[in-house]
Amino acid sequence: MKNMRDRLQHGLEQKLSNIRLSGHPDKRLPNTLSLAFRGIEANTLLSEIEEVAASPGAACHTDKVDVSHVLEAMKVPLEFAMGTVRFSTGKKTTAEEIDKAVDIVAQAALRLEAERSPVTGRIKDLKEIKLTHYTHGLGCACKLRPQVLEEILGKVPLPKDPNVLVGTNTADDACVYRLDKNSALVQTVDFFTPIVDDPYHFGAISAANSLSDIYAMGGKPLFALSIVGFPSARLPLEVLHRILSGAQDKANQAGISIIGGHTVDDTEPKYGLAVTGIVDPGRVLTNSNAQSDDAIILTKPIGLGIVSTAIKRGLADEETTRLAIQIMSQLNQKASEVMLRLGAHAATDVTGFGLLGHLKEMTKASKMDAVIYHDRVPIIRQAKEFAGDGVVPGGTPSNLEFVADSVEWDERISKTIQLILADAQTSGGLLIALPSARKDEMLEALKEEGLNGAAHIGDFTTPGTGKISVA
Ligand code: CO
Ligand code: CO
Repeated sequence: MKNMRDRLQHGLEQKLSNIRLSGHPDKRLPNTLSLAFRGIEANTLLSEIEEVAASPGAACHTDKVDVSHVLEAMKVPLEFAMGTVRFSTGKKTTAEEIDKAVDIVAQAALRLEAERSPVTGRIKDLKEIKLTHYTHGLGCACKLRPQVLEEILGKVPLPKDPNVLVGTNTADDACVYRLDKNSALVQTVDFFTPIVDDPYHFGAISAANSLSDIYAMGGKPLFALSIVGFPSARLPLEVLHRILSGAQDKANQAGISIIGGHTVDDTEPKYGLAVTGIVDPGRVLTNSNAQSDDAIILTKPIGLGIVSTAIKRGLADEETTRLAIQIMSQLNQKASEVMLRLGAHAATDVTGFGLLGHLKEMTKASKMDAVIYHDRVPIIRQAKEFAGDGVVPGGTPSNLEFVADSVEWDERISKTIQLILADAQTSGGLLIALPSARKDEMLEALKEEGLNGAAHIGDFTTPGTGKISVA
């Protein structure tokens, strides 16, 4: 295996001047070769060499999000800092296969290098780091972890404007800005990298997700603007057209138009909306007003992050894929109308921080303890199998860690269920606190609107520090 690995290394070294070995030259495994490619983002290269056995490695696999420290410790020149690609050779790999892989990788690397403008040289002073070089989180399409976000936002001064009715201090979904006694603007922005393969569905899901934060606060959307990152050198413009069509159709369904936006050329596609809505300042639903004995209603099943990961790895069957797309594309508009009509006390939507992460934001902001009955939580059937097999998105274990200090687990609850309850969702449902007496009426109304996955999953109990018991 070592011979083949070395053949791969020497072959690539002959063809490319822009590679750098990572890991210890003598202590590494005989069947793996870790290489950094100058100026090339690891995931971008991986997507161009799908027929070669390779995975993202090293630089991005550290838990640290603090870029400067990681780079400093590793003494990685900035131009090589965008990720490492790890190649593996098997027992049966032949010299012929290695030579073919050398050709594929070299061609892709040369092509990608030609597309890029030169990246700056070695870092002499850490202050020289330009954040734009780190758009891809050191090669992983990693999101910022909630812990990190909390810490950073804590360092940014809160707005002093008296018209800001809801700002960043309660980790709410959207901000609310008072215009006059009777009206306030509700504003939000959200965008992300593709969650499904089909560009039309990606656009629709992203639009539904962006609109969701307006609905979570009891607002009515008025119009939206697009935010687009697009690799115009790597994808035909038709793909962008399809993304925009999916988003526009979803916006039509919500009764609004997308009336402008902003695009940047990017190494990977990104799409989302900034949505402006309107809300009655007296009827804003935040996450901070849950009351004792309120029922907790969830309007969509969870497990979407796990299933999306399975889709990406080609593990999900067609039916599960279709179901996930349908759930993620569904607007939270009807759920929002129902909760307003039935006098909900508080609400949020379940997205990147998972069910427990968003519930924690609610219990903390409301200063209430809560109980969740794990067997009442609606879960996409196949998500359990996938999670049991370790098919879990990177953000999900971080979420579990984020809620660890607030959650008490019943000892019967498996690690798999714990992960699912913390699974990072895209365009998940609303999480609603509602007077217990109205919960049946609510579930019925939601079912009438076609939200068959909605369920009563737990209750707020008594005022407290925001503890969540999972029973
Ligand atoms: Co939200
Ligand atoms: Co959001």
